[in-house]
Amino acid sequence: MSRQRNLTYIPFLVTLLLIVGIALLSACSGGQAASSNQNQNTQNTASIAPNAQGLTDEARACVECHATKTPGIVNDWDHSKHASAGVTCLDCHETTPDSPMLLKDIKGHEEVTASLSMLVPPSTCAKCHEKEVKEFDASGHHRAALQVENKDAMQTLIHHHEGRDFEGLDGASEETGCMQCHGKRIEVDEHGIPTADTYPTSGIGNIYPNGEVGNCTVCHTRHKFTIEESRKPDACASCHLGPDHPDIEIYENTKHGQIYAAEGESWKWDSPPGDWEPGDYRAPTCATCHMSGIGDLEPTHNVSQRLYWNAWAKVSKPRDSDDPMSMLTGHADEGRAEMKQVCAQCHSSAMTDSFFASADKAVKLYNEAYYAPAKKMLDDLKAKGLLKENPWADEFQILYYHLWHHEGRRARQGALMGGPDWAHWHGFFILQQDLYRMQDIYNYRIETGEIEKP
Ligand code: HEC
Ligand code: HEC
Ligand code: HEC
Ligand code: HEC
Ligand code: HEC
Ligand code: HEC
Ligand code: HEC
Ligand code: HEC
Repeated sequence: MSRQRNLTYIPFLVTLLLIVGIALLSACSGGQAASSNQNQNTQNTASIAPNAQGLTDEARACVECHATKTPGIVNDWDHSKHASAGVTCLDCHETTPDSPMLLKDIKGHEEVTASLSMLVPPSTCAKCHEKEVKEFDASGHHRAALQVENKDAMQTLIHHHEGRDFEGLDGASEETGCMQCHGKRIEVDEHGIPTADTYPTSGIGNIYPNGEVGNCTVCHTRHKFTIEESRKPDACASCHLGPDHPDIEIYENTKHGQIYAAEGESWKWDSPPGDWEPGDYRAPTCATCHMSGIGDLEPTHNVSQRLYWNAWAKVSKPRDSDDPMSMLTGHADEGRAEMKQVCAQCHSSAMTDSFFASADKAVKLYNEAYYAPAKKMLDDLKAKGLLKENPWADEFQILYYHLWHHEGRRARQGALMGGPDWAHWHGFFILQQDLYRMQDIYNYRIETGEIEKP
């Protein structure tokens, strides 16, 4: 029966393939004609990049040539606010002749006289968007790559068993994992092109060859750079997911996320900054709570500003520091007051206060009932020489790591953002299991004076 049905499609498929083939052939010959004929080339540009009309000859040359070499880039730029405001390729890619990122001897750039760089650090954006860059620099996002470089323990985590002993494969796990979220110290070759082991990176805390830190393209991607994209939860989801910080999964588990999924497509996403208010949308996204202006609250690129706790650390403490490198970046009471201002646009203060009262209780429960006893056992075993040297081959230390880094964060972040499945089943429930298993191993080691054999 199903065979007969499949056979009836064959003549249709053959016709379809013929049509596609003919279409492809004519597209190819059209392309050849365009590149060999200057006149036709200009006409192509006019249709691809209407915003290039009226630019200086120098700025226009970039668009015209790149419309054939990298049409995707020109198309994105052409549909950006930048293009309609006359912000050109040169405004972002021109640099000083002494820049460590200067492009040299680029094939295709024989006629180009401007000093260019492929890399565009935040200071370039700051020429026109100073406030946003300053706020980003004051946030926890700023340290994302710096702290991965600085922490010895993290270097162990990356290198211990992930390529160090394999000729030519060192760093593969870090390059495709950590640095794609955290960022990387970018190095350039003699042409000013970033090297293969340091680029591309879509990490948020990239460190540029001139020492600058940050990456403005992770939430509004190049070359469209839109505000709409950054306001949707998808903008955060490439990094804020998974077993150790499942923020997108938590969001999907909340009423807010459910409403966004049900009707978000019809919301208004492009209101100007400070003017994006309830009515444009019915439920908050990540950006609404952590960044956007709402009511009297000003928009901010400092994602640490509205936080009370540090919910990623081993033990959560109220925030109290202006230093973006500090674990406690932010100010707990002011942060909580601002976050409550967000909720107040759609909920009563009675509801909001009750919500935070039980969320805070959950954070304290994690600190006192799970982390504190786990840490005490760890310290005891360490003092008695009953820990293996390689923590990643020691059941007790693996459990300890999972307790704070995975389930401990899920319980706290699930509670603080209203995701019950993550607060309980992926959180507190597993915390309890971890603790019982750690207690068994601990008791065995203390009673026998030795580390158990598998
Ligand atoms: C006559 C054609 C042409 C012109 C004019 C031109 N480019 Fe290019 N550009 C190229 C080609 C070809 C490449 C290499 C693309 C590749 O490697 O795939 C390139 C690469 C680049 C790169 C990336 C560096 C690299 O090597 O990968 C940047 C950034 C760039 N161009 C910006 C500009 C800017 C800004 C202008 C205007 C000042 C400009 N281009 C003018 C053809 C051109
Ligand atoms: C608003 C600033 C801005 C404008 C305008 C801009 N670029 Fe870029 N461009 C960037 C940023 C940011 C990057 C990423 C570089 C980095 O990681 O530092 C980039 C990267 C590139 C790259 C290399 C990366 C890749 O994906 O291949 C090319 C090529 C490029 N731009 C070409 C152009 C051209 C051509 C134009 C004009 C049509 C243009 N850019 C306009 C900011 C800009
Ligand atoms: C030469 C000045 C200039 C530079 C450099 C510049 N921008 Fe812009 N940017 C503008 C202007 C002008 C607008 C449009 C403002 C408006 O329409 O209200 C804009 C708008 C934006 C918007 C809002 C778009 C929207 O949908 O409303 C974003 C996001 C943005 N820029 C990001 C960047 C980033 C990231 C960089 C650096 C990679 C950068 N800009 C570099 C001038 C600049
Ligand atoms: C999928 C993206 C992603 C990957 C891959 C990733 N991280 Fe993270 N990391 C994050 C996010 C998001 C946070 C913030 C969690 C929070 O605030 O609750 C974070 C937090 C951290 C922190 C705590 C913050 C601090 O300032 O100390 C450290 C350390 C860290 N990551 C190191 C690493 C290392 C090392 C790797 C690779 C072995 C790695 N991460 C891989 C996204 C990622
Ligand atoms: C963590 C995600 C994220 C990063 C990283 C980010 N932005 Fe934004 N950006 C947003 C969001 C969200 C908005 C919209 C805020 C709102 O609703 O008003 C925005 C809005 C903007 C706007 C429009 C005006 C404004 O301030 O609201 C500009 C300009 C801008 N960003 C520039 C930048 C620059 C420059 C950088 C690099 C320092 C950057 N952004 C990095 C998320 C981000
Ligand atoms: C490209 C990856 C990436 C994207 C996209 C991203 N983040 Fe982050 N975020 C991180 C990393 C990595 C950290 C941890 C930095 C650290 O503590 O060292 C972090 C930390 C945070 C923190 C905690 C800061 C602190 O002080 O502890 C908040 C809140 C946050 N991000 C919110 C957001 C929101 C909201 C968005 C989307 C609008 C977003 N992030 C987009 C990677 C990202
Ligand atoms: C309804 C508002 C709201 C929404 C929506 C929301 N958050 Fe949160 N978020 C909070 C609150 C409240 C906290 C806890 C703040 C505190 O410490 O009191 C928090 C905490 C966090 C943290 C933990 C920071 C730390 O200390 O480790 C991260 C990371 C984060 N949110 C990212 C996100 C991302 C990504 C999204 C979207 C997928 C999102 N949030 C959606 C309100 C929200
Ligand atoms: C843009 C409006 C908006 C904002 C801002 C907002 N919420 Fe909500 N929230 C809603 C809507 C709508 C619902 C669904 C109400 C329902 O279930 O009938 C909801 C539901 C909830 C629920 C589920 C319980 C219930 O009554 O359905 C909690 C808990 C919650 N919000 C907490 C918060 C907190 C805490 C904040 C601030 C950090 C916040 N909300 C910010 C609109 C908002």
